[in-house]
Amino acid sequence: YTKLTSIGAFRKESMVGHYNEQRFDGKPNGGFYTQDDIKEIVAYAKEKHITVVPEIEMPGHATAALAAYPEFSCTGGPFEVGTKWGVLDDVFCPNENTLNFLKAVLDEVIPLFPSEYIHIGGDECPKTRWHQCVKCQTLIKEKRLKDEHELQSYFVTQIEKHINKKGKKIIGWDEILEGGLAPNAAVMSWRGTEGGIAAAKAKHFVVMSPGSHCYFDHYQGEQKTEPLAIGGYTPLETVYDFNPIPTELSAEESNYILGAQGNVWTEYMEDFAKVEYMSMPRMAALAEVLWGKDTSSNYTDFKNRLLLHFSLLDKMNVNYSKALFEVKAKISASDDHLLKVELAAANPTSSIFYTLDNTNPNNTSLLYRQPIIIEKNTTLKAASFDSNTQKSAVLEQKFEIHLATAATVSLKDEPSNSYKANGAFSLVDGMYGDRGKFGRDWLGFSGKDVMATINLGSVKKVQSITVDVLSSPASWIYYPKHITISYSENGFDYSAESTISVKEIESSKGVVKIEIPTTSIRYIKVNAYNQGKILEGNPGAGEPAWLFIDEIKVDCLLYTSPSPRDRQKSRMPSSA
Ligand code: ACM
Ligand code: ZN
Repeated sequence: YTKLTSIGAFRKESMVGHYNEQRFDGKPNGGFYTQDDIKEIVAYAKEKHITVVPEIEMPGHATAALAAYPEFSCTGGPFEVGTKWGVLDDVFCPNENTLNFLKAVLDEVIPLFPSEYIHIGGDECPKTRWHQCVKCQTLIKEKRLKDEHELQSYFVTQIEKHINKKGKKIIGWDEILEGGLAPNAAVMSWRGTEGGIAAAKAKHFVVMSPGSHCYFDHYQGEQKTEPLAIGGYTPLETVYDFNPIPTELSAEESNYILGAQGNVWTEYMEDFAKVEYMSMPRMAALAEVLWGKDTSSNYTDFKNRLLLHFSLLDKMNVNYSKALFEVKAKISASDDHLLKVELAAANPTSSIFYTLDNTNPNNTSLLYRQPIIIEKNTTLKAASFDSNTQKSAVLEQKFEIHLATAATVSLKDEPSNSYKANGAFSLVDGMYGDRGKFGRDWLGFSGKDVMATINLGSVKKVQSITVDVLSSPASWIYYPKHITISYSENGFDYSAESTISVKEIESSKGVVKIEIPTTSIRYIKVNAYNQGKILEGNPGAGEPAWLFIDEIKVDCLLYTSPSPRDRQKSRMPSSA
């Protein structure tokens, strides 16, 4: 199958910038590993006690192979090697000919790798083509399968039998659970931990790799100062907090958890220096998690040991991220419901200097000693300093204060673990999620509606309510079907619901505002209804859509801030 390397290994150009920008460099790019290359890699890894497990992706994510051999698709093609990444409808047609092709490829791959496992992918395979394909539908009837999911399961089982015959086991992404798990398959759980839990309960081995903790292609620090990443926010501390053995499992079931994997997908990593940057030091945190943290070990302890290791990494010229040195801001409500900002530096002996006037901080700026109370629109800038030398990038955070800032919010359903920002409080924290480099600040709900109730703490005169939602279909994020807003003075009798349609949401570019005649309000209900399953022809077709929501802003033009004397009085308890 020489066309796999002559055609399948080269694309005509690559994407530059973020996916949303759809910019391309016009430069051909490609390459492949020879058998000698593989032998060299495997031997080098072995010297370091590392086992290389190859992933031969099937039946989805196979456009490069189909560009070389379109006869193994449902439609016959033609296809070109992808210049965009993502989930594409054209996948392997799981018929006899394709199975023979893949078995032949595996027969060449297997002897090169001494690993016990061969990874066969299995993730993100849309069933769109299979549904319309005569070959697929005939196979479904012939094998008495229920649907296309069982067809995938049939396909994986055929591949598994072949690999088992060669003395190896298969591992695949959690989608291989759909339609029934092949008898001896191990599962790599990436869409949360549910797949891993189900597999362990069914006595299959599992490697945990949930997006919430193990995706090292996410941002690990402030998006404004970090290099471009796919999105998300998975800082070192989140990785260190990972528990690879879900509490849902019994002691016996826990034995099926082999460990975890950090995923370093390279769509946004143009060279090895960037791969190092995204991996380090998160790789160190995951390693410690997996080697086993003793109970006394906590993040602060790990961080302090890591700071010492940084000087070693410097000597070795490792391009590691210094996001750890960023000043971290914890935003919460003060006792008297004002916005409270607590700052912390990685190194407890560092000093933090900050400004509130949009200038860059230096070692003569305000020295941070106690939580900062933000009462009006402000840009906070802060950096950490060691003996007067600036140690971190500047943290820059804009706050826009409104009537619901630091109010109490309750959510019927919690956001997804991967996009939970600062929980429900993110909706009233005065901070607005970035619409380009989204990852932080937005709350993400996968397939779920948002039901939020805000308690302003006292009755206030209100004239408008604004809700921020996001759309980025390439990342499976969709505006809600519609949003409803209602309000109440006493918490029992609510106004009629205002309904904002998706058309109106689109034309307002996701900043949805209702204006009302000045009304006395204490409680506000905002419901945003998820699009549901992603429609055919779009990235992630058939998967649940994400709903991303940020600030719920409540305003009144008549509103005046409390008099300085009142403010002084009310602030006493929290600053004491
Ligand atoms: C994956 O991230 N599609 C496994
Ligand atoms: Zn087919």
